[in-house]
Amino acid sequence: MNLNTPLLKSDTFYLAPLRGVTVRVFRNEFARCFESPNIAIAPFVPSVAGHRVKPGLLSDIDTSVEQKMNLVPQVISKDVAQLRVMLRAFKDLGYDCADLNAGCPWPFVAKKGRGSGLMRDVDNFARMLEAGCEEMPSGFSVKVRLGLKTPDLLMERMELINGFPLRELAIHARTAKQMYEGDVLLDEFAVAAAACRHPVVYNGDICSFKDFQYLKNRFSSITRWMIGRGLAVDPFLMESIRAGNQVDRDIAKLKLFLDQYLVDCEEELSGNNPVMGRVKELWNYLHTGLVQGKRIWDSVKICRSVDEYRRVIDNSFNRPPKFKEDLSTLELNKKCI
Ligand SMILES: Cc1cc2nc3c(=O)[nH]c(=O)nc-3n(C[C@H](O)[C@H](O)[C@H](O)COP(=O)(O)O)c2cc1C
Repeated sequence: MNLNTPLLKSDTFYLAPLRGVTVRVFRNEFARCFESPNIAIAPFVPSVAGHRVKPGLLSDIDTSVEQKMNLVPQVISKDVAQLRVMLRAFKDLGYDCADLNAGCPWPFVAKKGRGSGLMRDVDNFARMLEAGCEEMPSGFSVKVRLGLKTPDLLMERMELINGFPLRELAIHARTAKQMYEGDVLLDEFAVAAAACRHPVVYNGDICSFKDFQYLKNRFSSITRWMIGRGLAVDPFLMESIRAGNQVDRDIAKLKLFLDQYLVDCEEELSGNNPVMGRVKELWNYLHTGLVQGKRIWDSVKICRSVDEYRRVIDNSFNRPPKFKEDLSTLELNKKCI
């Protein structure tokens, strides 16, 4: 494997939507403190019955407040009329691109025909794609998985998908049954990407610059990359990927980010519980990248108030924690070569 694969100028990076984590205040503070991906896909907004979408549902993607990342809103829906209403609401906010979530693996979502379950009913899936492309001409994209229980449903639907003028297709290289764990299925991704006539966005387990280089080597024609948990675990990841090596990760910068993120969350949410819920969602990922992460996480998990949390973080950073040397996952995945 060549670890010095040059990053093509045309490579585009996306912040994956992580509901509860990559929300507006996170995206904005991230953009202030760290190198950001080129585009962020916002966590999904569920479609609703009726002709109007309540503004509260759209607060995360509201364009009248600061959005520091280039944002593409995402909708989750199985209803054509509701999809149109939501896409019009996105357009009213000024968006000319939108993404349809056809990948959410949670059984209570998929069983009802939404998220990854959307691809099961081919006729309805076709109607959704048609409505999406009509409402957002040349701006409609879809985020999918390789299949439900087995990695074949996406290939079964590829001819249909190819028949619509999508902006791109983001493929999380897992089945819904895998949820977010187990090996990404790179052979199956390769087959699907080759069959797709739209630009393909690779998604799944990019956790280090080595993971990225491994994938870039393997899929040289892919130029769009979506990263979720990797950026929540190591906010310096984008900088390392663009530099082509592991950059020094300035712990003081991480502390500044965490302090400011807390302030932002307090401004947006009211009360200890929602604020603590929000910061714990982030720490759930962040701690796994730090050598002392488990100890910090054990203390953060049991915090019930913002003051308590502040004390825990200040104490934990008195002796600055360190990032683990190498957070790669895919490099070890030799069987995929
Ligand atoms: C907590 C969590 C929330 C997520 N929320 C969304 C979402 O709102 N929309 C979506 O399309 N995918 C969502 N995903 C899936 C991610 O966007 C991404 O496809 C998945 O995490 C794999 O990429 P990664 O390995 O880079 O994290 C979510 C995943 C997690 C773990």
